[in-house]
Amino acid sequence: MNNIKTICVCGAGTMGSGIAQVAAMAGFDTIQFDVSHDMLEKSRSAITKNLEWYVSNGKINAARQLACLERIRFTGHIRDCIADLCIEAITEQKEAKAALFSQLSVINTSTSIFATNTSSISVTELAATVQHPSRVVGLHFFNPAPIMKLVEVVKAAQTDTAIVETMVMLTKALGKIPVVCNDAPGFIVNRVARQYYLEAMKLVESGLATIETIDAVMETTGFKMGPFRLMDLIGIDINLAVSNIVWEALGKPARLIPSPIQKAKMESGELGRKKGKGFYVYGV
Ligand SMILES: NC(=O)c1ccc[n+]([C@@H]2O[C@H](COP(=O)([O-])OP(=O)(O)OC[C@H]3O[C@@H](n4cnc5c(N)ncnc54)[C@H](O)[C@@H]3O)[C@@H](O)[C@H]2O)c1
Repeated sequence: MNNIKTICVCGAGTMGSGIAQVAAMAGFDTIQFDVSHDMLEKSRSAITKNLEWYVSNGKINAARQLACLERIRFTGHIRDCIADLCIEAITEQKEAKAALFSQLSVINTSTSIFATNTSSISVTELAATVQHPSRVVGLHFFNPAPIMKLVEVVKAAQTDTAIVETMVMLTKALGKIPVVCNDAPGFIVNRVARQYYLEAMKLVESGLATIETIDAVMETTGFKMGPFRLMDLIGIDINLAVSNIVWEALGKPARLIPSPIQKAKMESGELGRKKGKGFYVYGV
């Protein structure tokens, strides 16, 4: 844990931006990498805005706000991604993640740790694609990363036990609550939560209830967010990718068939809050 001074977060979208903020706020030198210049600018502005909120609510002072921002280097160049710990939070696609990890493993030292924020892809299969598989681990943060405390620390078949222990200490240093789990489709939370989304969409498909009614009912019973509001927060593309991957990995059981409603949203580009429209419309 003491060996980790620099954290590189690859992907500056919903999750990557939040994880970079968490790392910088915990005092780590942070590199925020994305292939999209627009996403880097959005991340910079989201982090700036979040830190302003912390200052105006008396959570941090102006000096800490400035220090956090100065600790993050935003870059579009993979050659800058040299760190003690690289956390990838790019698109939920195995090939893309494997390609990124193999690029990172070429430019980093053999002691660097490679963590994936994947929600559903097999960490064991990803680890098999890199030069030092024992240094690959899952670090599954939740959305929004600066607020949600839980992190699933996922142990792949090849992950060195010492790396798992280091990640437990690191996540605690980030102010999070780690839960160690073995690599399995959807890990813990996404496996259990699949039914929350899929059953809700089945109710809408069969005309038994509206999106608004289901969300209102679930929120009234104590869930912080109804399934549709939550899917919009997560991103329809990400949620559908997770549904597909978990369904296939478990042998395509009928109860987990991905929903046509979600596929239609995906095809129309209504991906949720990040696009201003999903199951609901948002001010952009
Ligand atoms: N959205 C959630 O609620 C949530 C929660 C937990 C985990 N996750 C996981 O986090 C990961 C990212 O999800 P997200 O919602 O932040 O996605 P997103 O679509 O908001 O952002 C993905 C980012 O990755 C960038 N990118 C794509 N390919 C890249 C590459 N090769 N190198 C660098 N950057 C690249 C894109 O430009 C984009 O900015 C996924 O694996 C997802 O399963 C998502």
